[in-house]
Amino acid sequence: MVLSILQGARILATGSAVPDLCVKNEELSKIVDTSNEWIVNRTGIQERRILNKKEESIITLASLASIKALKNASMNPLDIDLIILATSSPNDLFGSAAQVQAEIGAYNAVAFDLTAACSGFVLGIITAAQFIQNGSYHNILVIGADVLSKWIDWSDRNTCILFGDGAGAVIIQSCAKEDNGILGFQLNTNGKEAHQLSIPYEKNYIIKTRNDILDINQGQFKYLHMNGKEVYKFAVSQVPISISKCLKSLNILPEHVQWLLLHQANKRILHAVANRLSISFNKIISNLNKYGNTSAASIPLALDEAIKDKKIKKDDIIVISGFGAGLTWGTVVIQWKC
Ligand code: ACO
Repeated sequence: MVLSILQGARILATGSAVPDLCVKNEELSKIVDTSNEWIVNRTGIQERRILNKKEESIITLASLASIKALKNASMNPLDIDLIILATSSPNDLFGSAAQVQAEIGAYNAVAFDLTAACSGFVLGIITAAQFIQNGSYHNILVIGADVLSKWIDWSDRNTCILFGDGAGAVIIQSCAKEDNGILGFQLNTNGKEAHQLSIPYEKNYIIKTRNDILDINQGQFKYLHMNGKEVYKFAVSQVPISISKCLKSLNILPEHVQWLLLHQANKRILHAVANRLSISFNKIISNLNKYGNTSAASIPLALDEAIKDKKIKKDDIIVISGFGAGLTWGTVVIQWKC
């Protein structure tokens, strides 16, 4: 989608945070019937970070990542107008963004959660860009944070080897139209395939109210369920189409892309998507070997690392794509303006 804008939006700074506990493949092979070799060959993952200290939570991780981004932007938290927390594992079903707002002292900011699993951060950036490009807000903090370890069945080798916990944050700021860095996007949802990847709520008992006036179904969320093969096929077929459509709408050729930053789910997916787009593997940004699939955190975590490593240069074109539960997937093309 080509944007018609009143003012430009650009990513000013990034930050990230992961739990201290590092769990290597060898340790997982003592919990479930798997091996380091299987996990590395099939996914590229070597280790992941897992939240296990009582005092740590998604709020701690999201706040730490945000404080680092604010520091890197030399920005006072009171200057943030809006906080968007992309997460599917909040501390509270009513949302966790408000608690992050309080924790970092961004008392002037409106704050809300955005739920779109592994596509959450891409949707967060695009949502923030709308508020900035139409002139409503100037400084927006977008956080991708997930703690899927609490929804994983740790006896299921199909899923427990894949996921890790983490948080990444970016500050998006308004700028002159000519300096706009959020160039365009392409988004999709296919709810007919929602059952391929979900953390379903199951009604499993009935509460009777006094005098039998009401029968109320109650229950709880189950463990994360994923049909890995189907999600794999969906990702390698649909993500390249989304990227191609987005680049075409912006008149950008794949050879003019400097970096391909995909949701960090599986190394084979990253390579298959790059292959289909004829984008060279050395343009892929990847850190999934260290963190696994951190859901909404994976893209900002990898972006922050690439910035720290000084890989990304001014005016580089970065193609960012998320995909996952929903099923939801999409692309945002940015130009680095700092
Ligand atoms: N260790 C050893 N063997 C295993 C393991 C394991 N951890 N897991 C599965 N296997 C076995 C299976 O039982 C199967 O054995 P069988 O042939 O005897 O039946 C064999 O290995 C092959 O299993 P597959 O499921 O076919 O393995 P595949 O190569 O498809 O890899 C994987 C599985 C890694 C899950 C892959 O399908 C994948 O990455 N899918 C996409 C996941 C994804 O992208 N998610 C993104 C969104 S996440 C979100 O939105 C929250």
